Parts: sequence; structure tokens; C-alpha cells
Amino acid sequence: MKRKVQVGIIGAGPAGLLLAHLLHRAGIEALVLESRTRDQIEGTIRAGVLEQWTVDLLISLGLGERLKREAHFHDGITLRFNRGSHHLDFPELTNGKRVTVYAQHEVLKDLIAALPADMIQFGVRDVSLHRLGSESPLIRTAEDEIECDFIAGCDGFHGPSRQAIPKNVLKTYETVYPFGWLGILTEAPPSHHELIYARHERGFSLLSTRSPTVQRLYVQCNPKDDLKDWSDDRIWSELHQRLETDEDWKLTEGKIFQKNIVSMRSFVCETMRWGRLFLAGDAAHIVPPTGAKGLNLAAADVVVLAKALTEWYRDHGTDLLDLYAPTCLARIWKGERFSWYMTTMLHKNESEEDFVQRIHMADLDYLVGSHAAQQALAENYVGLPMAV
Ligand code: FAD
Ligand code: DHB
Repeated sequence: MKRKVQVGIIGAGPAGLLLAHLLHRAGIEALVLESRTRDQIEGTIRAGVLEQWTVDLLISLGLGERLKREAHFHDGITLRFNRGSHHLDFPELTNGKRVTVYAQHEVLKDLIAALPADMIQFGVRDVSLHRLGSESPLIRTAEDEIECDFIAGCDGFHGPSRQAIPKNVLKTYETVYPFGWLGILTEAPPSHHELIYARHERGFSLLSTRSPTVQRLYVQCNPKDDLKDWSDDRIWSELHQRLETDEDWKLTEGKIFQKNIVSMRSFVCETMRWGRLFLAGDAAHIVPPTGAKGLNLAAADVVVLAKALTEWYRDHGTDLLDLYAPTCLARIWKGERFSWYMTTMLHKNESEEDFVQRIHMADLDYLVGSHAAQQALAENYVGLPMAV
């Protein structure tokens, strides 16, 4: 079937769905095309930490009712290394800001439920992009041909949008880390009231939460590891060793009902615009998860894009569209820097020289002894101010 829409959005992740809401509110007609089913999207476990401004935005859009009831609001994090424990007090360090732990798939459920049903098509096959340099770019799917004014490529790292940009114009930067995270969900009460990031000679681990009865934990592993080699006993043994210190604190075990392994990379595609195609979120940039920036950066991109498209539909002004990539990249590179800093400081990297490992320990030691260094970490963790 042939049809027309003002903005075609590829991907119903945080970037695509939030953009759809922002455009809908501005009276711009948008259609989200998603290859997975609604059940798959609402059941995929990924991010957990929302920056303060992301939460404020969701609430201001009327999308925060369940979040306000069910999310956990955290006033800080704990860093552990050398068998010691150090608390960072975010409200004190950032003039009252904090972070919110609310799972990404819960955000997605809220975003999907609040959009008119005909604005999202799930299970769409064979998406391809055409005529990007023209004034009427086209999205083809197995069943439809959709003519648009603009296309928003919100289809994650592996989607077709970035690949539709000619290779010879793509400007990309990347580093891949030689470690990954094994993540688990466990039926257990919280072991601690805030997140714990731990660096240990056996590797990194992270204690996070999802609800009063479900906890999320991560342990550094080899990204090529087979889940079969990670028995529940081995996971708990590593978590106990890496998270427990000389103090009295003990990790509470529970039944593990989900395990997965994620690899880690930092990636930026500076070519965020090609003709009438705009890339947003993981389609344009990836951060390693330490520091919890990915979803928040995706949200920041689409705030900038929605404002630029709104200007265009108001009076055909192109200034903000032209500024889209540079405006986003200024924030993205700071998110990349912070995620890289948290990742390299907190993980054990066997391929690093001993000298560099000593520098990371000095970084941690400096951090816990310096109010200024703690302020810098906290300011980034709760989210830098939005430029728009
Ligand atoms: P995605 O969420 O990847 O969405 C892209 C969508 O496009 C998907 O639904 C996909 O199915 C769809 N798509 C792909 N190809 C096609 C196609 N051909 N046709 C149609 N649709 C297509 N971030 C944080 O901010 N805080 C955290 O605490 C945090 N923790 C994380 C923990 C882990 C273990 C991981 C893996 C990630 C974490 N992140 C975190 C990162 C965060 O999950 C991502 O940055 C975020 O999902 C990016 O959103 P997005 O909308 O850009 O892309
Ligand atoms: C979670 C993920 C992160 O990447 C992080 O830094 C903190 C928490 C989580 O999934 O809960």
C-alpha cells in the first residue's frame, strides 16, 4: 500500500517512541515502524537508570504517572575498591539532583500505551530507505511504500538507517573493550538501598535493582563467554567476592531467572544527518553501560530533533535542522567521555599495562578523597544540563 506521512520513524526504542510523542504533541504526523513485536519490546531487559531531566521530561509529557508510583529514587551511589566502601551523596554534590531507577522496558510500556495505536506498526519486515537526498524520502517495507518529508533513523546500532548513508561520507569513531557484562535478574529483596559499583582484582561488578522483589546484578566477564559456563553458583561466588568488603554488609542471594551477556563498545557516527535522514540514539552512538548514559543520550537527541522539526513545520526554517548534529554531538561526546572514564576506571583490563592499572587505582583514590572530583562524577551521572 502507498501512503504519506510527515515524519517516518524507524524503530520503537526509547528514541523512536519519545520522538513520536514529542511530534504528536506538536501536531506533526508521525508513524513508527518497528520490526519486533510489542511483546518482544516490552519484555527486553536493558537499561535501568534515568537522569533527572529525562524523568522531568516524561512527567511533563504526562508519561510519568506509573514511574512516580513504582520507580526508585536514589540519592547517590556507592563505590567499592580495595575492600573499602565510599558513598557519593548526589543531592549534596549537585544542588539537590538525584537519579531514578526505572527499567527501560517499563518506560517503553508507558510510551507505547500513551500513543494512538495507529502511530506504531509492529512486526514490520524488510525496511529500506530511499531518495534520502530528495524532498520526499521513502521508506519501503515488505508491505508498504511510505513517502515522508523526513525520516528519523531510531533503529539502534544494527538497524538499516545508518547503513543507508554512503560509506564514503560516514565519519565514525570507535573503541571496543575486551570485556563484557553478564547480567542477571534474581528474585530477592534489595541488598542495599542504592547502586554499588565495585572494582575488584577479579573484575568489575554492579549491584542494581528493579523492584522490592527483583534485583539486577552484573559481573564483568569475557564477552565471548558461553552462558553455559556461568552456573548460578559461579555467578554468586563472583558477586560475593567482588561486592563484599571488610565491613559487615552481605549480598542476599535469590533464584536467578534471567541471564544475558553484553559486549561493550564506544562508537560515534558524527554523520547524524544525510539529506532528509536524521539518526538518533544508538543508531548514531553507543556507550558502554557503566555510567548509564545510553537511553538518556537517545532521549536528548530526539528532544533536539523534535524542536528542529517543529521549527521546520512552523515556517520552513532550517537553522535548527542544520544545527541538529553539532548540538547533539556536543552532549554525546561528553557522554562518551564519562562512560569511557567510568568503564576504564572500574574494570580490570588484562591487556592494559600495569602502569595504566595503577593510574585507575589512583583515579579512584583521588575521587574518594576529593570533593571536586566527586562533584564532577555526580554532575555527569545525574545528567548534564540540556542545551535546549
Ligand atoms: P534501541 O533501544 O536499540 O531501539 C531500536 C529499535 O529499532 C529496536 O526496537 C529495534 O527492534 C528496532 N529496529 C532495528 N532494526 C530495525 C528494522 N530493520 N526495522 C524496524 N525496526 C528496527 N542506558 C541508560 O541510559 N541507562 C542505563 O542504566 C543503561 N543500562 C544498560 C544496560 C545494558 C545491559 C544495556 C545493554 C544497555 C544499557 N543502556 C543504558 C543503554 C540503552 O539500553 C540504549 O542506549 C537504548 O536502548 C537506546 O535506545 P534507542 O531507541 O536508540 O535504540
Ligand atoms: C543499570 C545499568 C547500568 O549500566 C548502570 O550503570 C547502572 C544500572 C541497570 O540495569 O540497573
